Amino acid sequence: MPVNTDYETFEGMLSEDLIAEVAEFVSKLFSSPDGPKVDPKRYATRLRSNLIGCPWVFSGIARRDGRVVGLKLGCSHDPRSFDSYMGGVSPTARRQGVAEELARRQEVWCRAQGFQFITTETEYDNRAMMSLNLKRGFYVAGTVTARRAKLKVLMEKDLREPQETSEETPQTVDCVPSR
Ligand SMILES: CC(C)(COP(=O)(O)OP(=O)(O)OC[C@H]1O[C@@H](n2cnc3c(N)ncnc32)[C@H](O)[C@@H]1OP(=O)(O)O)[C@@H](O)C(=O)NCCC(=O)NCCS
Repeated sequence: MPVNTDYETFEGMLSEDLIAEVAEFVSKLFSSPDGPKVDPKRYATRLRSNLIGCPWVFSGIARRDGRVVGLKLGCSHDPRSFDSYMGGVSPTARRQGVAEELARRQEVWCRAQGFQFITTETEYDNRAMMSLNLKRGFYVAGTVTARRAKLKVLMEKDLREPQETSEETPQTVDCVPSR
């Protein structure tokens, strides 16, 4: 039976309730039972400080039965280039096009804002994320090394290139105008 997925998009700073929900989701997504854990409170603090003062913030959330199953977050201080810095889909909702739909909505919004590029960093061995980005027209623009962290691949999409299909601007809800 097809599963119904609801998509919401938000412009500007997220509400405290959403920050808490996102932090819980990210904590579940990136904590492993025997390995490193992501503390939702610490993540919420980090997220808040990343987004505060950012002139452009765009978030996409996918829900099933009211529960978050996917998200895509990004922000920017630069009117030319939008940084898509976090994304993920619950294991049970993967390979059903959720990440692709969230990426598509982010891109439509970025085009409507006049951004020329979307950039993102992906760990070198994250095949799923790299494949998704390549499929959506990103290219490798460099690598990023940081002490004690995995090599990251910097990927970029040039929005000035002609689009293959016409895509509609999504409706944003709970919109807090950010500029
Ligand atoms: C990467 C991720 C977000 C993909 O989510 P998803 O909803 O399953 O992706 P989609 O179903 O929209 O897939 C779109 C495309 O991505 C690629 N893709 C997705 N999962 C893949 C996998 N496991 N292996 C290879 N390619 C994959 C494919 O190109 C796919 O297109 P196709 O179905 O036509 O082959 C998900 O695997 C995830 O949450 N991973 C853990 C979190 C993470 O690594 N986040 C990024 C770091 S911030």
